[in-house]
Amino acid sequence: MPALPPRLVDALRAADNTVVLTGAGVSAESGVPTFREAQTGLWARFDPQELATPEAFARDPELVWNWYGWRRRLVADASPNPGHLAIARLQRLVSDFTLVTQNVDGLHQRAGSRDVIELHGNILRTKCSVEDAVVEDYAEEESPPVCPSCGAPLRPDVVWFGEMLPPGALEAASEATRGAEVFLSVGTSSLVYPAAGLPFEAIENGAMLVEINPDETPLTPHADYSIRASAGEVLPRLIAALSQ
Ligand code: OAD
Repeated sequence: MPALPPRLVDALRAADNTVVLTGAGVSAESGVPTFREAQTGLWARFDPQELATPEAFARDPELVWNWYGWRRRLVADASPNPGHLAIARLQRLVSDFTLVTQNVDGLHQRAGSRDVIELHGNILRTKCSVEDAVVEDYAEEESPPVCPSCGAPLRPDVVWFGEMLPPGALEAASEATRGAEVFLSVGTSSLVYPAAGLPFEAIENGAMLVEINPDETPLTPHADYSIRASAGEVLPRLIAALSQ
């Protein structure tokens, strides 16, 4: 693994504000497949980018509901990995910390992170596809179940391609980003906007930008430091260095 930039550790110690933006790569080491890698098993022949849309749900609600059911079970059986745990520890080690995630799996919260800004919702919640309200009691055996109040099909409370982000989430993420002295982009392909715009807001406001990703992304040329390794490897080492 590449060495940690000493200036990064110093900058984190000195920073009044730190923002971490995460993507599916952080959960890869928990066994949750990312969106753009080849899928395996039962759902290998479906492209997540074609299932995670309002059009797919309108065309075939059963298919989309069942795909999310499979992902929900996968997430329920997964555990937070050393990357998630290190991010939760980082929150306790630095002053004024904000975690923004594109992940819908809730693994950051299970690792102990607090006040997580979830830009794309959460797969464990279900909502009415018409009224938009979260629904807790429904007939589990139906695919999809229907809304107890209006009878419309229920859907996961996640953001699909082409949909708006949850009200307030992007604003809160953007406000924290504008005040960040250090901004870490971890395990995201930096392709999906508006989330992918946050690191650029951080740069404009003078933050040190650090990317942790085994692969190059469109953000890489703009980063002060690009650490090409997995989150589960790099983040625990960063915590160890900070704790010294
Ligand atoms: P992607 O699947 O697009 O990208 C995952 C990134 O994680 C890739 O750049 C990988 O190189 C990297 N990666 C893989 N393993 C890693 C590891 N162990 N440590 C660090 N990085 C690793 O996922 P996102 O960027 O999260 O949106 O995708 C953004 C959004 O597009 C998702 O939230 C989802 C998706 O379609 C919606 O559902 C709206």
